[in-house]
Amino acid sequence: MSSECTWSVLLIFHFILAAGAVGGTVCTVKSSGGKEVLVGSNFTVSCLFKNQCTKLIFQDKKKLMHVEFNSSVVSVDVKNLTKFSIFTCKCMKDPEPCGIDITPGHPPSIPENLTCIRKTEFGNVSCTWKTGRDTKITTTCQLRVEGVPDFVYKSVMNSAGFCSATFPIIGSMSHLIVWLNVSNSLGSTTTGPHTFTLSNIVKPSRPNIRHLECSSQYCSLHTNNHGAHLHLFEVKYRGENETWKNLQTDAESSLNISSLQPHTNYEFQIRRKINHTVGLWSDWSLAKTAKTKEEAPDKVLDVWYLQEHSQSQNKCFLIFWKELSKSDAKGEIQMYNISEKRMKVKSIIVGPTRRHYNICCTYCSVSVSAINSVGQSPVRFIELRSLGLVSGFVSHNTLNNHSIALFWSTLAIATHRTEYVLHWYPVGRRDRLEWIRVVDTKAIIRGLHPKECYQGAVTALCSSGFRMASIEGISTWKSVPEQGPVPQQNWKKSESLQVKWSEIPHDKRRGCLTKYTVYLKDNVKGDIQNNDVKYPMKQYTISGLSPGHCYNLWVTAWTDAGEGPRGSDLPFCTPSDTEKLLSLVILAGGAVLLTCLVLLCICQFSCVQSRFLTCCKCLMPRDIPDPANSKWAKDCAIDQGEMKFPLHQYDSSMSEEPDTVEVEVVPYPSSFTCTYIKSFSQTSGCSDTTLITRSSDIMEDYICTHGARSGEEEGDEFKFLPCTVSPLLEPHFPCGGKLTLDVVKIDCSEFLDCT
Ligand SMILES: *[C@@H]1O[C@H](CO)[C@@H](O)[C@H](O)[C@H]1NC(C)=O
Ligand SMILES: *[C@@H]1O[C@H](CO)[C@@H](O)[C@H](O)[C@H]1NC(C)=O
Ligand SMILES: *[C@@H]1O[C@H](CO)[C@@H](O)[C@H](O)[C@H]1NC(C)=O
Ligand SMILES: *[C@@H]1O[C@H](CO)[C@@H](O)[C@H](O)[C@H]1NC(C)=O
Ligand SMILES: *[C@@H]1O[C@H](CO)[C@@H](O)[C@H](O)[C@H]1NC(C)=O
Ligand SMILES: *[C@@H]1O[C@H](CO)[C@@H](O)[C@H](O)[C@H]1NC(C)=O
Ligand SMILES: *[C@@H]1O[C@H](CO)[C@@H](O)[C@H](O)[C@H]1NC(C)=O
Ligand SMILES: *[C@@H]1O[C@H](CO)[C@@H](O)[C@H](O)[C@H]1NC(C)=O
Ligand SMILES: *[C@@H]1O[C@H](CO)[C@@H](O)[C@H](O)[C@H]1NC(C)=O
Repeated sequence: MSSECTWSVLLIFHFILAAGAVGGTVCTVKSSGGKEVLVGSNFTVSCLFKNQCTKLIFQDKKKLMHVEFNSSVVSVDVKNLTKFSIFTCKCMKDPEPCGIDITPGHPPSIPENLTCIRKTEFGNVSCTWKTGRDTKITTTCQLRVEGVPDFVYKSVMNSAGFCSATFPIIGSMSHLIVWLNVSNSLGSTTTGPHTFTLSNIVKPSRPNIRHLECSSQYCSLHTNNHGAHLHLFEVKYRGENETWKNLQTDAESSLNISSLQPHTNYEFQIRRKINHTVGLWSDWSLAKTAKTKEEAPDKVLDVWYLQEHSQSQNKCFLIFWKELSKSDAKGEIQMYNISEKRMKVKSIIVGPTRRHYNICCTYCSVSVSAINSVGQSPVRFIELRSLGLVSGFVSHNTLNNHSIALFWSTLAIATHRTEYVLHWYPVGRRDRLEWIRVVDTKAIIRGLHPKECYQGAVTALCSSGFRMASIEGISTWKSVPEQGPVPQQNWKKSESLQVKWSEIPHDKRRGCLTKYTVYLKDNVKGDIQNNDVKYPMKQYTISGLSPGHCYNLWVTAWTDAGEGPRGSDLPFCTPSDTEKLLSLVILAGGAVLLTCLVLLCICQFSCVQSRFLTCCKCLMPRDIPDPANSKWAKDCAIDQGEMKFPLHQYDSSMSEEPDTVEVEVVPYPSSFTCTYIKSFSQTSGCSDTTLITRSSDIMEDYICTHGARSGEEEGDEFKFLPCTVSPLLEPHFPCGGKLTLDVVKIDCSEFLDCT
């Protein structure tokens, strides 16, 4: 019975109770067909009222036209009722109704699909069967077991139309005979007898895998609590991402699953039954997983190589290898062993993620192998040779965004049928090299990226030597570059300019670059000239520029699909002729200045030298010519601007009055005044070319006007060049005044610290 029906029955029951409390219901309802009627049947609903009133009758709250027989009875004829309905009667002024629920339904149909299962050999038998269509009304099922008289097991049909009954087996019987009876208020059906062999309906309890022991290729299953007479097992197992495989085995001892892959996770489940002919299968056990052990790989690696450009006589190669498939690796590859055969074998071990290695050698015989925890794969020997390159023998055909078909002619690269290696990589990304081996003269390469440009080659593996036909710039999809190159000035002259530009990032190229165009716009004339530069050149020299003009320059890149956008602009102006002249003058002036400075230094160097000689003989060779007798000194001793300085420290016995040293400021005989101070004896005149050294204490034959300055200003960057007198520097003492030597005396220890 449906829940709404139950609910309304309860509701009415409540009404009846409520009415009873105030002295009974207003009315009573009756149906000529009862509460459960056949679907689509006709019947009459009538109400008997207790009091006089205006009578109303409803079907599911919808008012019906009724016939009134006498003062207390009203009735309606219901036709073709197909759905559950509530009929109510009430007085107009009294809210309290009386009512009846009527459910249309079907009589039960013949029971079908009876199955009986005995849970274990000593358990109860459960039988289930189905009664055709849904009867919609309360239907009871009965099962009678023959041999057990008057023993009937009852059950209620569920909403899906299934009936079931569970009963024990009493006594010892080999066969089970049952009768079924399904009935409701609209009818009943009976089937039988149904006969079962008891042993055939036995379903053993679910087994359990206790534990698993695995080697690299087989696993042994250990189960619990088998019944002694349960002899047939079925094992189902699967590796990761594989489909189930089944195996039936009679003997429990041989729950041994062989031919498994090493280093693979397997999932196992088992079930059992009495024997091949008798009984039912148990449910599958819970799944249990185990991993088989590793084995040494037994496949050689697929190895290929590229020759690198190198200057030395050693040839350099980039060796690539492919990862072994999971089934070939038979374990976790821990490293790769690259061995180079020279006088003795030199092995290099690289990590498991590496797929390439760079090797330089003269006669290169290399072997590569993969190593897992158990052992090493058989080595792949490869003789690295320079490849004879031919070009233009490979044609291609784009199939879609991700694949290209390539064709080549046998004769162009090989003399007879042979194996070919076809390799390719995105331009500039040799580390992403991929290759396939074919014996045909065509191949399809897959997994390409539509925005990349690829290059590669077909190599014929002839015994006489490898020959390689290169494949340049292929792409599956073409578009113009997304970005332009950024130009930069390399050098500039008044009539020419060299420009270079950056590479466009690979992901912005959208195909294979074919050329660049350099645009030059004359800002004065306004005309634009352009020049093509073949890819991969990245610089261009523009000549024929007008001096003193301003230009704007930009560069675009091209693919087969067309021209990309311009990169950033490079505005520049060529120097004019006057500017050029000026710069030449500046350059020449600079050169002259530099020469003079050098000369000056040399000139003053003699004075430094003498200091060096005095203070630190370690630094200077001893036998240097006396600068006082040098030609310059003599030349400079032309009578000019003679100055007198009082000399306090001079030998007082010679004279009462303070001695003076006659110091002459001698200009250097050139446009630059080389001012230095020359000491003389008191009596010596300007014409006296011989300089007398008064005492060893006073060695400063030449006193640099700047020397005093240098003594005062320690840390000055000119400290070591006290003699480079700039004409701009003011002399520290007034020319023409008198300077005593203790004033001018220079502390050499300060000046040149000789340690
Ligand atoms: C119900 O009544 C209709 C109309 O009077 C009639 O056609 C039909 O056969 C009746 N159904 C039954 C089951 O008597
Ligand atoms: C009875 O009702 C059902 C559904 O409401 C309709 O399909 C059918 O034709 C009706 N039968 C008669 C005899 O009126
Ligand atoms: C009874 O079993 C048969 C065969 O297994 C099936 O085809 C049929 O649909 C089943 N009947 C019902 C009512 O489930
Ligand atoms: C078998 O059925 C009987 C009666 O229905 C019940 O009392 C008993 O517990 C059941 N036995 C088992 C093992 O389920
Ligand atoms: C089936 O069950 C119904 C209701 O209990 C009963 O009236 C009827 O006689 C039974 N039929 C058989 C064949 O047992
Ligand atoms: C399982 O089978 C393999 C090969 O079939 C055999 O080598 C191994 O000994 C067997 N293990 C057990 C426990 O029977
Ligand atoms: C299967 O088991 C039954 C009952 O235990 C036995 O009678 C029969 O001989 C067995 N059949 C086979 C093929 O083992
Ligand atoms: C690497 O391979 C070479 C050549 O097969 C072998 O002599 C060497 O022992 C291997 N090195 C390691 C670490 O396995
Ligand atoms: C090919 O790739 C480009 C770029 O990703 C895309 O715009 C285009 O729709 C693709 N064409 C096809 C046929 O998938």
